[in-house]
Amino acid sequence: MSDAGVGWRRRGSIALVTLERPERMNALSRALVTRFGEIGREIAADAEVRLVIVTGSGDKAFCAGADLKERAAMSQDDVRALLLSYETELGWLETSPVPTLAAINGAALGGGLELALLCDFRIAAPHAVLGLPETSLGVIPGAGGTQRLAKLLGEMRAKELILRAARLTAPEALILGIVNQVMPKSEDFLHEVMAWADPILSGAPLAIRAALRAVRGAATRDLHEGLALEREAYEACLQSEDRLEALAAFSEKRKPVYRGR
Ligand code: COA
Repeated sequence: MSDAGVGWRRRGSIALVTLERPERMNALSRALVTRFGEIGREIAADAEVRLVIVTGSGDKAFCAGADLKERAAMSQDDVRALLLSYETELGWLETSPVPTLAAINGAALGGGLELALLCDFRIAAPHAVLGLPETSLGVIPGAGGTQRLAKLLGEMRAKELILRAARLTAPEALILGIVNQVMPKSEDFLHEVMAWADPILSGAPLAIRAALRAVRGAATRDLHEGLALEREAYEACLQSEDRLEALAAFSEKRKPVYRGR
């Protein structure tokens, strides 16, 4: 683990990114955000990676958001620069060619929830607490939370949660549609998350990427443009060896062996 309080390692074809600042509840310091951006570039260069999981060390916090102790000593310009760096250094989670998943092992507050909102999937431990409490601290979410929560839930719920600085339990977040799933047990949480993600790793790698690109594209396109994107994304699968392997495996009644080609 680096001094910046975040590191990554590959476990099979999963890139596991771990926030590790337990004394500050894995809060986002400047150094951590900078290193997070580097990690994104390192993972992008690793052709073996087929899924990125972001999690926090320990079981108390996924990430408690901005490092409020560091923030206290920062000038207004420092804060402005930090807000910009959230976009440049954390944004790769949202544009990654392979899916990204936030394994929310504890509190995900403020920037912690915003980090999770950048991911394609969010899985929570049963004791996790989630919220964007910034207005109770005299600011607003500054790492995309106002926009991404509104897109995810609609304006009505986003206003409710952000203006009321609500802290949700994991089951509440599930009912609202902020998390995909709440795991039943806190023990072995990461293991359970990996089991949940297993179908993603079993799928044909090119098809997983193509599906991800097509579905993500729906948010910014009308239906006509979206259907064109879908056809374009399909083309990558149509030309693949893995598609032929899937058809052969089906007729031979065996499991396909995908090569990502
Ligand atoms: N920045 C810096 N330090 C933080 C922090 C943050 N965002 N959140 C927690 N810490 C520190 C605490 O100050 C404490 O350190 P100390 O003992 O040296 O004072 C340590 O982490 C443990 O926190 P504590 O509150 O005692 O743990 P807890 O288990 O009771 O509660 C949280 C955990 C995450 C629920 C709680 O710390 C919390 O609500 N933090 C603030 C989160 C927040 O509002 N984030 C939004 C920022 S915009």
